Amino acid sequence: MNEFYQKDIFSIKDLPKEQLEKIFTFTDKIMQLDPSDRREICKGKTLGYLFFEPSTRTRLSFDAAMASIGGNSLGISDISSSSTQKGESLADTVKIMSIYSDVLVLRHTLDGSSRFAAEVSEKPVINAGSGTEEHPTQAIQDLFTIKKEKKKIDGLKIGIIGDLKYGRTVYSLLHGLGNYDVDVRLISPESLRIRSDSTYEIKKKLNFTESTSLDEHIDELDVLYVTRIQKERFPDEEEYLKVKGSYVVGLDLLKQMKDDCIILHPLPRIDEISPEIDNTKNAKYFEQAEYGKHTRAALLGLILNENGF
Ligand code: NCD
Repeated sequence: MNEFYQKDIFSIKDLPKEQLEKIFTFTDKIMQLDPSDRREICKGKTLGYLFFEPSTRTRLSFDAAMASIGGNSLGISDISSSSTQKGESLADTVKIMSIYSDVLVLRHTLDGSSRFAAEVSEKPVINAGSGTEEHPTQAIQDLFTIKKEKKKIDGLKIGIIGDLKYGRTVYSLLHGLGNYDVDVRLISPESLRIRSDSTYEIKKKLNFTESTSLDEHIDELDVLYVTRIQKERFPDEEEYLKVKGSYVVGLDLLKQMKDDCIILHPLPRIDEISPEIDNTKNAKYFEQAEYGKHTRAALLGLILNENGF
């Protein structure tokens, strides 16, 4: 049996390297398959999504992924139009959605929400972003993008810049990178450094340094992963205003980078990457978004087919 069959995906920490690599292999397979063969993979299956926080790419890419493998999706992305507004509990909403679908995708403001959902769901649950904690499918997509665009992950110098305190994609990515032999430079304003409760665990499997200066590291990086300042997660607007616009990747900075350094971003971007970067060969964030559809299709195909595809 394929080990992903009916598996919940809460955290990237639950996926050992062999399993990550298996998802990458199946993603390559999905990308190579003829569209009509691809549509056989989840023919007649339904994905149910519940998004309690805004999303563009994650929800649409799950939708597009499911359609590309022959399934369909239904769900709630605007919680104000659901019975949650009438006081329905998360447990009941999840339970109902799991009756109508074969796999459930949940985004929620609370850490631990997907683990809770899995307790009441009759179907496997995929965490599509839980509070400031984790975003495992984004990390799968990020690692796949690095592998595709740099042809390897081991041996790379990777800079991660921006809001390292509240950005959940960063935590999942760091745990994912812990499976590889990489050097990581964490770059953020002092007040947005990575949370110390997490560094304890990450330190055991990853080499990283922390700094506030991008200039110090810019010329040595193979990958620059940029994140937005997570305005909505600041308890105090004043604190946000102090760090807003701390780093902007523009053409002047590009000149200092290695010629083949790739620039990634989970998106949405606010002002941290100038639009003039978009047409350079270094910008890979739109490719990254596209790979997100294929990695999610591979994951869904594995979760919903006992013997893989
Ligand atoms: C990220 C998220 O929701 O955590 N977005 C995404 O899923 N691509 C990043 C962000 O919101 O900054």
